[in-house]
This record gives sequence, C-alpha cells and structure tokens, in this order.
Amino acid sequence: MPPLTPELPSRTVIMRLWDRYGMLPNIKNHSFQVCNVALTLWQWLGENNYYLNRDMVESGALLHDVAKAYCLDKPHLSHNLEGERIVAEAGYPELGLLVARHVNLPEDQPLDETLLVFYADKRVVGDKIVSVKKRYQYVYKVYGQNSEEGIARIRYDENRSYEVEKQIFRHICGRQPEDLCHIRSFNIINKEPAC
Ligand SMILES: [Fe+2]
Repeated sequence: MPPLTPELPSRTVIMRLWDRYGMLPNIKNHSFQVCNVALTLWQWLGENNYYLNRDMVESGALLHDVAKAYCLDKPHLSHNLEGERIVAEAGYPELGLLVARHVNLPEDQPLDETLLVFYADKRVVGDKIVSVKKRYQYVYKVYGQNSEEGIARIRYDENRSYEVEKQIFRHICGRQPEDLCHIRSFNIINKEPAC
C-alpha cells in the first residue's frame, strides 16, 4: 500500500487551529500522548516493512480532538464531525476524514494512518497510556449511566478496538500491545514551523 500524500498542515497551522478552537491544556496533553503512541506504532510497522505517512499520523493525532473543547457546551454537535469540518475548511479534507473516523471507524478500514490514530486514542486516558481494557473500564465508569443504546455503543467500540489491535499487531513482529505502556516520548513534530 503506497503512503498517502495529502496536503498536511505545518506545526504553526496545527497550533493556530488549537488556539482558534480553544483547546484546553489537558486535551493538548492527551493529543501529544496519542501522537506518541501513534508514532511508535508507525515506527514499529516501518521496522516490519509496513510504511505509512508519518506526517499524516502526526497531524491526525494532534488534531483528532481539535473540536473537543469547542463542543463542550454544544451537546448537539459531535466533536469528531465538527473536527472534520474545521480541518477540511482549513484546507485538509483527507485529514478531516481521519478526524471524523477516530470515533466512527468503518468496518472495512484498512491498516492506515486513520486506523493508527483511532487505536492510539483508545490507548490513552487523559495523558496516560493504558490498555484497551483499562480505557473502557474508565469509559464505563464515566458513561455507565447512559441509556441502553449508549452502553451498547460503548460495548461495540470496545470490541472494535480489540479487533483493530489485532489488525495492527498482526504486522508487528516481537512486540505486544502491552509494550506500548513502556514507550518513551517520541520526538513529536519534526517539521519546522512555517512562517
Ligand atoms: Fe482523543
């Protein structure tokens, strides 16, 4: 599978979008950690000759929750779809689709940048790297009072995350999902800010 080559935002543009949509410090820290996990997977896949677009992974991870704070007082909006709109309107429609899918991942999503960001997000609570199981224990604790439909949705997402985990680690020899709990900080954002 050839790497995608979409137009991607510079560090300056990412930070401007963060500021424009009121990204809170805790959401920024969460996004950095998701980026760490996603880039570690990108590297492990590359070591196994499975090459993905590093900048797409990085930009997607940093922007996946760009609309989270913006949507906090707008319960009728979905942060992933607002995020898609924001990123697409900034001139990055492919990246916008990744942002939309970090919540609603299609059943037939191939192992690509979108899948990595989806999974990395499911391995981070706040800014801590945890197992998928621990992440969903947290989700049940916070949203466990939801409607039956809401609970069913969480259960579906949890199962989907396990499937995606298998889909990724099938291509990574000698490493296990637990190994992500011991990674060091990745050198995030290797691009110079654009003027
Ligand atoms: Fe997230």
